[in-house]
Amino acid sequence: MAELSNRTLNGPPKTSFWLRRLWGLRFIFRPLETLDARTQAYGEDYRVSPPGSQPALVYFSSPQALEAIFTAKPEQLSVGQGNQILKFLLGEHGIVLLEGAAHQRQRQLLMPPFHGDRMRSHAHVIQDITGQEIREWSLGTRFKVRPVMQSISLQVILKAVFGLDGGQRYEQLRQALCQMLDGFGSPIGAMFLFYPFLQQDWGAWSPWGGFLRQRQQVDQLLYAEIRDRHHHPDTSRTDILALLMAARDSEGQPLSDVELRDELITLLFAGHETTASALAWALYWIADLPKVRTKLLAELETLNVAEDPDPVTITRLPYLSAVCQETLRLYPIAISAFPRVVKESMQVAGYALEPGTVIMPSIYLAHHRAALYPEPKQFRPERFLERQFSPYEYLPFGGGDRRCIGSAFALFEMKLVLCQLLSKCDFSLVNTQPIRPIRRGLTVAPSDQLQMQVTGIR
Ligand code: HEM
Repeated sequence: MAELSNRTLNGPPKTSFWLRRLWGLRFIFRPLETLDARTQAYGEDYRVSPPGSQPALVYFSSPQALEAIFTAKPEQLSVGQGNQILKFLLGEHGIVLLEGAAHQRQRQLLMPPFHGDRMRSHAHVIQDITGQEIREWSLGTRFKVRPVMQSISLQVILKAVFGLDGGQRYEQLRQALCQMLDGFGSPIGAMFLFYPFLQQDWGAWSPWGGFLRQRQQVDQLLYAEIRDRHHHPDTSRTDILALLMAARDSEGQPLSDVELRDELITLLFAGHETTASALAWALYWIADLPKVRTKLLAELETLNVAEDPDPVTITRLPYLSAVCQETLRLYPIAISAFPRVVKESMQVAGYALEPGTVIMPSIYLAHHRAALYPEPKQFRPERFLERQFSPYEYLPFGGGDRRCIGSAFALFEMKLVLCQLLSKCDFSLVNTQPIRPIRRGLTVAPSDQLQMQVTGIR
C-alpha cells in the first residue's frame, strides 16, 4: 500500500470560471455523456475540480476505491453534510441527513418493514394496484410508460407508509406529491437543485414559488395525518407511520412532529420515483429486444398466473431477476451514491484525500467498466446468470452503512409488477427511435418519448 500512497488523481487543467460552469451545465443536461467523456480522458478515478482547489470534488468507480469508501469508518466520512442539497425538501431530520447514532437508530427502525414477511405482506397491494391500471386499458390504448409506472409505485409506497385506508387525504397527497416532484422532472427543473441562487420565490407562478406552495400543501396534509393519529391512537396499525410514532429514543422520547414529517417525506420521495423509472426502463428493454421478451415470456409461462402464484416464486425466477439487475446496471437510476465528505485525512485506493474533499461514488461508471461488463452499452441479462459481481462492482443501491433501505422492496415490486403486466398484456413501442436517458432531479430516467401501445390483453 505504501508505494501507492503518492498517486495523484487526474483531472481537467485549471480553466476559466466560465468554462467550468459550461461543464457543470453539460453535466446537468447530458449527465451520462459527461461522465463517459471524463472517464475516457482521466481514467476511472478522477478529480473534477481544478488542481489545488478547495473543496476538491472527486469521482471514484474502481472497485478498490469503492470498497475503501463503503467500508470507511463514520468518523472519516460524512454523508449528512454531502446531502445538504436535499434539505429544502426533506428537512434536516430525515434519515438521509442524519449521522452517527441517530442515523443508525433510524435505519434499525426502518429496515424491517421493507424486508422479509413485512415486505411480502404488500404483495397483494402491489398486484391490486397494477391490476387496476390494466383494467383501464383496452386494445390499442397508448400510454406514457414512466408516468404510469410512477402512479403504481406512488400508490404502493403511500399504502406501505400510511396503511390501506388513507381515504381522501391519501388521494390529495398523491396528487400534491406528483405535482411537486414533477417540477424537477426535466434538466431545467433540476437546475434549481444544483444552483441555489435560482431558489427565489417570485410568486406562485415562478418555478420556485410554485414549488414552495406545493411543498406547503404536502406538509399540511402530512401534519394533518400526524395530528389525527395523535388524537386517535390505534395500536393495531402496522404501517410505517404507526411504527415511527411508537418509536422512542435512548431517553424514552418519541419523534417530534417535524421529525415525523421529515422521515415521511424522505420515504415517499426516495421510495417511488426510483422504482418507477426502473420499471419504465425494464419495460422498454423487454419491448425493444425480441430475444429478451421471448425468453422472459417463456419463463413466466412456467408459472400458472391464473392460479395466483406465490409472490416468492415470482421473485426467484432467474431470468426475471437478471432482467431487473441488468436494467439497474445499464442506466442506474441514481447515477451516483450519496456524496461523502472527508472528515479526517484518509487514503482511498492510494490517493491521499484532505478533509473537505467531496467524494462521488459513481454507480454509472462502475457499471460501465468494459473489463467487467463486456459491451457495457448493450442490454444483456445473461451476464448476471453467467457470473456474480461483488458489491463494489455492482451497486445500484449504493453501499456501506448508507446502502438503500428499500432495495429488497424495490426489486420485489419491480418483479411483481413486470410479471403481472407481461402475463396479462402484450405491448409494442410507439416510437421506434432509441429512448434517451434524461435527468429527473438527482436521478436519470427514460424520457417521456417512451410510449407503448397495448397490442393484446389476456
Ligand atoms: C430502484 C429503486 C431504488 C434505487 C435505484 C435506489 C437507490 C438508492 C441509492 C443509490 C441510495 C444511496 C446509497 C448510498 O449512498 O450508499 C439510496 C438510499 C436510500 N433509499 Fe433507495 N433506491 C430505490 C428504492 C428505494 C425505496 C423503494 C425506498 C423505500 C423506502 C428507498 C429508500 C431509501 C432511503 C431511506 C435511503 C437512505 C439510506 C440512508 O441514508 O441510510 N429507496 N437509494
